[in-house]
Amino acid sequence: MNVTNKTILITGTNRGIGRALVDEALKRGAKRLYAGTRGAALQIADERVTPLTLDVTNVAQIERAVEEIGTLDVLINNAGVAIYDDLSNFDAIEQRLAVNLFGILKVTRAFLPLLKRSKGAIVNNLSLAALAPLPIIPGYSISKAAALNMTQSLRALLAGQGVSVHAVILGPIDTDMNRGFDIPKAPPESAARGIFDGLEQGEEEIFPDPASQSVAEGWRAGIPKALERQFAAFVPPSVANAA
Ligand SMILES: NC(=O)c1ccc[n+]([C@@H]2O[C@H](COP(=O)([O-])OP(=O)(O)OC[C@H]3O[C@@H](n4cnc5c(N)ncnc54)[C@H](OP(=O)(O)O)[C@@H]3O)[C@@H](O)[C@H]2O)c1
Repeated sequence: MNVTNKTILITGTNRGIGRALVDEALKRGAKRLYAGTRGAALQIADERVTPLTLDVTNVAQIERAVEEIGTLDVLINNAGVAIYDDLSNFDAIEQRLAVNLFGILKVTRAFLPLLKRSKGAIVNNLSLAALAPLPIIPGYSISKAAALNMTQSLRALLAGQGVSVHAVILGPIDTDMNRGFDIPKAPPESAARGIFDGLEQGEEEIFPDPASQSVAEGWRAGIPKALERQFAAFVPPSVANAA
């Protein structure tokens, strides 16, 4: 899907990749951009941008956002949290899941009626840690793996209704999230371009940076992808033909 003249909602836009996605969507001619933040509103001098208070764990705020938006073509679930842990703290794991898994699911379900109406797209910002755990952030890795699995189910369940569902498999990007982690990182601006390019090309999994691109071919030709397609065939015709 091309985002020119489209209405887009992005979560977690005050910094990092979310902020870069806002700029890139505007450059590509988005018609209206709803910029979600859980804290202070995004300050940006472009009349196409509507700031939105949206903590993805807050159901009341999600419901208010749906009422305010009214029509939507592209939902980008970008908000996320990653903190070092060692699987000893259950509260910490639940907190990652609350944002990185249930946050995506709650926001997505709330906006589904609008996305079905527009035959729109859902883009979930995930991570290489969804494919294999990064054991210094295992709670985060669990949440991203679960979110990839959920993304694959949503893709199969919504295909018949004209809604496309994309997983972004991000490698290391130079944002606050991995400050102090001394490895090569791609700039958020180029990751944002890669995400919209992948969406435009209709890629189910989008690999928007050099580290993630190095596994793209293997993923697309691999057993998990083949199984995803095989299992999607179990979706009952009543769901698959709902369009
Ligand atoms: N940077 C990387 O290397 C990398 C790699 C793989 C995947 N990713 C994924 O890319 C996405 C963006 O990451 P980033 O690097 O831009 O991280 P970041 O710079 O740490 O920004 C995270 C954003 O998410 C927001 N957020 C956190 N919890 C939220 C909540 N409950 N409701 C709404 N917004 C919330 C933050 O808002 P506040 O400012 O209020 O905290 C912030 O805007 C995340 O999903 C992340 O997992 C990043």
